[in-house]
Amino acid sequence: MSHYFDPEPSVPSQPRQVTLVLPDLTVELTTDRGVFAGHAVDPGTRFLLLEAPPPPARGELLDLGCGYGPIAVTLALRSPGATVWAVDVNHRALELTTANARAGGAVNVRACEPDAVPPDVRFAAIWANPPVRIGKPALQALLSHWLGRLAPGGRAWLVVHKHLGADSLLRWLGQEGFATERRRSRRGYRLLEVQARATA
Ligand SMILES: C[S@@+](CC[C@H](N)C(=O)[O-])C[C@H]1O[C@@H](n2cnc3c(N)ncnc32)[C@H](O)[C@@H]1O
Repeated sequence: MSHYFDPEPSVPSQPRQVTLVLPDLTVELTTDRGVFAGHAVDPGTRFLLLEAPPPPARGELLDLGCGYGPIAVTLALRSPGATVWAVDVNHRALELTTANARAGGAVNVRACEPDAVPPDVRFAAIWANPPVRIGKPALQALLSHWLGRLAPGGRAWLVVHKHLGADSLLRWLGQEGFATERRRSRRGYRLLEVQARATA
């Protein structure tokens, strides 16, 4: 069975153009089979891009699980003075993000495998439509790792559907020391704001 998080998707490539239309920008993107949202912009992703506040103008930003790159490209165009790291385990997704950033003029996107982000990088903001389908233990490990790399005062903005465990995720994040609030809710999608752990 093929998953959107397979490193090398087994389904044949069949690129497709999608248009991401937001109040402040419109961008043409290429997606593909074998990556998340291979046919259209995901409604949860669109909700995040519409409802989260503007990203920090400078510093290091992270799109955790970039897929074909709609979040990374948007962050980069909204914050041209920042560096946007776009990480994924799916190689087809990384190639699409690189190509989409180049085509969209988002020169400040660095798409790479997670381990290629230098370990000393700390993020002013993390935005993600996280890979809930990898299962709860793997998702929790993933979020612990990357949220632990928020800079002091940094914020993460996560979109998760209630049917995919948004509310229990919110509680778990709080138990892990990440103060988390539900900022918006629409059609089952929750927009969560997660604060960096307070340092002792
Ligand atoms: C729900 S999709 C979101 C994709 C894209 N950001 C979007 O909004 O269309 C989550 C992404 O996380 C990626 N992913 C899964 N495991 C990962 C990991 N361990 N590290 C980084 N990304 C991962 C998946 O391959 C997938 O592309």
